[in-house]
This record gives sequence, C-alpha cells and structure tokens, in this order.
Amino acid sequence: MKQNFFMFAKSTYFGYTKHMLTQQNFSKPLVAWYKQHKRDLPWRNTKDPYAIFVSEIMLQQTRVEAVKKYYAPFIQKFPTTKALSNASQEELLRAWQGLGYYRRAKNLQRACMQIETEYNGQFPTTQKELSLLYGVGLYTSCAVASICFNERVPAVDGNVLRVFARVTALPDNVLLEKTKQNVYQQLLPLVPKEAGSFNQAFMDLGSSICLPANPLCQHCPLASVCKGKHNPTAFPVREKKQNKPAFHKTVAILYYKDAICIEKRKDDGLLAGMYAFPNLDGWLTEAEATAWVEKNFGDVQALTQQYHKKHIFTHQIWNMRVYVFTLSSIKTTSFVPDISAYPIPTAFLKCLP
Ligand code: ADE
Repeated sequence: MKQNFFMFAKSTYFGYTKHMLTQQNFSKPLVAWYKQHKRDLPWRNTKDPYAIFVSEIMLQQTRVEAVKKYYAPFIQKFPTTKALSNASQEELLRAWQGLGYYRRAKNLQRACMQIETEYNGQFPTTQKELSLLYGVGLYTSCAVASICFNERVPAVDGNVLRVFARVTALPDNVLLEKTKQNVYQQLLPLVPKEAGSFNQAFMDLGSSICLPANPLCQHCPLASVCKGKHNPTAFPVREKKQNKPAFHKTVAILYYKDAICIEKRKDDGLLAGMYAFPNLDGWLTEAEATAWVEKNFGDVQALTQQYHKKHIFTHQIWNMRVYVFTLSSIKTTSFVPDISAYPIPTAFLKCLP
C-alpha cells in the first residue's frame, strides 16, 4: 500500500509533467509507429509536390479507397502543373468523373495556372504561399507543406481532432472553429522535424487504431499518454446545437475499507433529496480532484481509475468525469457499507466502476 501511495503521489503532485505531451512522449512514438505501419498509398511513392498536391485535393471529402482508383491515371494524363493548366475543361472533368465535388477539379486547374504564371512554374514551398492557391485552405496547405517540405505545421482534420481529443480527454466541442484553432496551437510545438510523417501518422492511426467506434487502444503507440483510453468513445466531444444544455460534472467514487461515500442532495432543484456520490460542476484535473477529496473527505491512498460517463435527462445532459479513489482515513461520517437502501439516481449509479 505504501508503495501505491508513493506512486500515486508522484504522478499526481510532482510528476505533473508526466501528463504533458512532449515530442519525446508523443511525437516520437507516433512517428516511429508510422514508419513501421504506414499504408502503402500511391501518393506516398513520390516526392513531387504537384503529385502530392493532387492527392490532397482528391482526398478532400473523399475516402482513400475511392481516390486510389483515380489517382494514377490522373497523374499519368496530367503529369505536371503545366499539363493540367493546358487541359481543356472537358478533358479535366472526364478524368475527375465519379470523384464528385467537381469544383475541386476546376480549382485545382486554376491553382496550377497560378503556379505557372505567378511562380513561373515552380511549385510554392511554404504553407503561407500554398494557402493562397485556389481551393487551398489551412488543412491542405499544412498537409502539402509538411509532406513535401517538412514544414513544421500540423494538418488538423477529423482524424487529428479525434486522436488529439482522446489523448488529452479534451472537454471542448470539436465542432467549434475555436476548438480547432486551439488544437492547432497545441500541436504546433509537437510537430517534429519529420513533419510529413507526423501528420500522415495521424491519418493512419485514425484509420486503423484510433477508430471512431471501436478503437483498438491495446495496439496504440500513444496509449501510455492517452487520458481518454478508459472511455475513448466519449471523445471527441461533438455538441451539435441543441435545445438541451450540456454540463460538465466531476464525480468522485470514494472507498474507505468496505464503505463508499454518499451525500444527500439539497431539498430543491434537480434530483432533490436523493443521494449521490460527491460531485461538483465542471471537470477537475487529477490534481484538483485529489485536492478536493483531501480537503473534504479524507486522505487519499490511491487514485485507481478515471473515466467519463454521459447521462441524458429530459432537460439537460451531464458529461461526467469520474475519479475512483481509495482513502486511508476519512473526515466525514457519510460512508456506508451498502448503498442499496438509499435512493440514488441512475445518473450517479452509472458512475460506479
Ligand atoms: N487523407 C488526407 N490526406 C491523406 C494522406 N496523405 N494519406 C492518407 N489519407 C489522407
């Protein structure tokens, strides 16, 4: 037990940096994993920025499997920016036919014309310049700049948001633009020299391990730093505009010997008069939750688990961050050996480990 307590204290109080993402604990294992497991895709066998640019435009809103069929014939037919600039619209659309979103093809051609005229046929080499081309937004310019020129910029798409939101247990709604900008800023210092491999590693991790529905966390190279791995499908938080307000809560499941802590709720408001595990509004970090427990309930022996649970009431939603602690001493009498005699709402019962 002594050893457990020490390990816990170290990771919570003194080893706070343990939970900070660094190139060493995040970028390095991600890139190493990519080198071993990367998919063999046609646009990965070239260094030609034009060819990689074409792949990124085709991959906008389109699945890798669909793009694979179109890519090689397209590059063969239009091998350079010059060749594509000189194509008739009919030729261009025939080569694109079936891929959909035809505006992409027209913008791609206009971008090639821009390169021919404004850059004298030399492909631009910086994210800034790339972002000024027709049809090129932040994601595509970052993807091309990193893959072709190893410019150290993150390419934040759905895969990156999912992986990063899980690894950091990100409470923010990823459907909001400001969340994407925030993720971009957090990733910026993590982009290593091998920026292209880093960004493509997210794409491959997101399509083979960090899957939307059934992630294979046991095979993930980021498992040791991942805060969301106990309940990965709770992330990313995607809150569509809805009439039900959503709230973050922190819930503590506190064990002392064979007893568990419950508290009676206030006599008014939601779930009035019922019993609940200690809880408060907002999401506390491990360190904050530990301090809260120690101040109010007793000495912490170990933090044994943490995970997330969601409960949908008729008029609101709770997104609960649950911490499970064992205590070595207690400073309240509200610990009971058997909760079955107490009225405890489902929202809390589902928080039990
Ligand atoms: N999706 C967008 N860009 C991609 C790339 N370069 N490889 C795989 N999937 C992608």
